[in-house]
This record gives sequence, structure tokens and C-alpha cells, in this order.
Amino acid sequence: MMENVLELERVSVKFGGLVALNEVDLTVRRGEILSIIGPNGAGKTTLFNIMTGIYTPTSGQIRYKNQLINKLKPYKRVGLGIARTFQNTRLLKNMTVLENVLVAHKEVNTEGVFASILARSSLKQKRQAIVQECMEKLEIVGLADKADQLAGSLPYGEQRLLEIARALATGCELLLLDEPAAGMNQTEKRELIKKILQLSKQYHIEVLLIEHDIQMIMEISDRIVVLNYGQKIAEGTPSEIQNDPLVIQAYLGGEVEA
Ligand SMILES: Nc1ncnc2c1ncn2[C@@H]1O[C@H](COP(=O)(O)OP(=O)(O)OP(=O)(O)O)[C@@H](O)[C@H]1O
Ligand SMILES: [Mg+2]
Repeated sequence: MMENVLELERVSVKFGGLVALNEVDLTVRRGEILSIIGPNGAGKTTLFNIMTGIYTPTSGQIRYKNQLINKLKPYKRVGLGIARTFQNTRLLKNMTVLENVLVAHKEVNTEGVFASILARSSLKQKRQAIVQECMEKLEIVGLADKADQLAGSLPYGEQRLLEIARALATGCELLLLDEPAAGMNQTEKRELIKKILQLSKQYHIEVLLIEHDIQMIMEISDRIVVLNYGQKIAEGTPSEIQNDPLVIQAYLGGEVEA
């Protein structure tokens, strides 16, 4: 049987009177690309926020590798191997591409500012190793040759790839991508799809993906979970989801042939 990496059990999130997530059960299995789809306001980002510790669920349980993480602080979850990108990029635009990855690196992050590591010559080798690792992350997303450019000068699609490199630098095993293709053109999307598949198949990172591009979702996902008004209304393979009457009615609408 396939191992579950992340398990949500009847998770609810309430904001005042609004039920953003309503008793959601969800599992992320070892090795899979799992996509979360649903209309605007369905609760997709909220799902990421409770997985990463930005919010605590009102009720229900979250387990990561069999450990209850409901109340763990975000940085502790990063330490366990959960990393994310945001719907709106959060790059340090006046820093270089490489610096953006460096500040996200797990050891830089836990040992304080990079400068303090830099200052001690005994740690020079360490520093080199960290830079090397960060360059490898940039290579994975295809940005190594732009390491010295300012992050803010990159085209939008590449800024989103840089966000992924930063998440990888945390040493993540589970990567949550919130609308990574938003604002990308077709060429950039093709490239992104290749990168995500590579992360999954070659680097064995579990990927949780929120996307509105249904074609991309159908192409890339092992499984799909559909949210609507905070409820999970369907779950299955791309073809199961594409033919689910409830999903077609709630979300896919005219995009799928009847
Ligand atoms: N911090 C908050 N306080 C109050 N309401 C919130 C908060 N965060 C989210 N919500 C509400 O919870 C619901 C779910 O929001 P969420 O951002 O998870 O949706 P989404 O599925 O990611 O939508 P989109 O596709 O537009 O990104 C929405 O009604 C939203 O307004
Ligand atoms: Mg969202």
C-alpha cells in the first residue's frame, strides 16, 4: 500500500461566520503530484495556510509523516520538510537571484544571517558548500545563468521559478505551489510543467499544486481534489474528475465536453 506523507482529517477553518474549510479529509501520498482545484474562494489557499502553519485549523487534525503538526509554528514545519510558494511572489526584488535562494537555504536560515557565517574563515568551506547547493537549485529551475541578476529584473515567469528554487533550498520534501502558472505565457507554462514533473520523478519531491489552468492540471496530476465552498466535492484521477458531473457543474462548466 502507498504511504501517506500528509494527512488531513476532518479539518475545518472558520473566519468569524465564514467556513473557509469544512471537514476536509485529504491525503498526500508518497511520490505523487496532487492538485487542488476549485472556484475562487473555494478554500484552496486556506488549505495551504493550515498545512504550512500560517493558520491553525478550528478543528480537525493534520499529520505529517505520522506526526501531529496542528500547532507547529511555520518555521518548524519548514524544518520538517514542508515548503511553499505564494500566490503572489514574495521575492526580495533588490537582491540577486542567488541571494534570494541563499537567504532561504536551510542552514543559512537556522544559523542566522549569512553575513555571520561569511565572517568566520573557518566556515568558508561551509559557505562554499551552501552556495554550491543553492546554485544546484537554480540549475534545477533553469536560472543558474542568471544568478547575479537582480530578482526584480527577471520576467514574471522566471520570478515564479525563482520562488520554487527558494522553496527547494529549504530542503523540502513536500512542495506546495500556489498557482505557479498564473501570469505565464504558453512557453513558460510548458517549461514549468517540465520542471514540476522533474521535481517529482527525478528528485522525489511530493508536489501539491493549486492551479486554475485545467489543461495543465489534467496533464500533470496523479490525482486531483476538488474544493467548492470549503468542501471537498470530489477526488480522483484526472479522467475521473473530468467526467464527474458534480465537478463539471461546480467548476469545469463549459470547459469540458458534455
Ligand atoms: N484571513 C482571512 N480572514 C477572513 N477570511 C478569509 C481569510 N483568508 C481567506 N478568507 C476567506 O476564505 C475563503 C477561502 O479563501 P481562499 O483564499 O482559501 O480561496 P482560494 O480557493 O484560494 O481562492 P482563489 O482561487 O481566489 O485564490 C474566501 O471566502 C476568503 O475570503
Ligand atoms: Mg488562492
